[in-house]
Amino acid sequence: MDSIRAYYDQRAPEYDDWYLGTGLFGARDRPGWQEELAALLRTLAALPPRPTLDLGCGTGFLTRHLGGQPLVGLDQSPAMLGLARERAPHGHFVRGDSLALPFRDGTFGRVFTAHVYGHILPGDREAFVSEARAVGAEVVVVDAGPRAGPPRDEWQDRTLNDGSRHRVYKRFFTAAALLAEWGGERVLHEGHWFVAVSGRGGGGGSVRRAHQDGEGD
Ligand SMILES: C[S@@+](CC[C@H](N)C(=O)[O-])C[C@H]1O[C@@H](n2cnc3c(N)ncnc32)[C@H](O)[C@@H]1O
Repeated sequence: MDSIRAYYDQRAPEYDDWYLGTGLFGARDRPGWQEELAALLRTLAALPPRPTLDLGCGTGFLTRHLGGQPLVGLDQSPAMLGLARERAPHGHFVRGDSLALPFRDGTFGRVFTAHVYGHILPGDREAFVSEARAVGAEVVVVDAGPRAGPPRDEWQDRTLNDGSRHRVYKRFFTAAALLAEWGGERVLHEGHWFVAVSGRGGGGGSVRRAHQDGEGD
């Protein structure tokens, strides 16, 4: 397990503190956070129900607001998946790698992914987008909003409840920037804390075909 994957597995029991403003996040000043989160949840709940894959589902905090069946959550972290199974019992949760999805092209009506793409390093982005677009007819991508700055990336130092320290790569997006990277079509949410866009999937691309065929010398 590489360090970012181990970090999220370790963070699983305290992950929702980020959403709820509890634990170590209780001291953070985040004006408008809860209101904007509520608006994002309403937007997700209003999406037309479709068979959905939640890619990097984490604890299932957002998964439970997604309509449609089957509802499948995929994550690399066993601890995250355990929590998601409790939180969204109507879902089916599997361990897997977002860069090599264990699903055939076009399996889902929608691939939903939240707060995962912005942690993907530049060299893996093409594979991430290609995999997501291949297995879903539509993609919905949620990530960190601009927070009053331009689109940017940074390496953050993060501390967990046990005092352990971790380095995490993270990006901040405008809706326009996220839309452009995904070849998206529609802005679903454009806020300070969060942005969400949707676009068409169904486009495998060269990276996925190479994975699947396994041909070559
Ligand atoms: C910031 S959390 C987001 C969780 C959830 N989507 C949400 O918005 O609350 C990122 C999640 O992506 C998962 N993840 C990171 N890299 C992954 C990969 N290569 N394959 C599958 N899951 C991955 C982590 O285990 C973690 O649960």
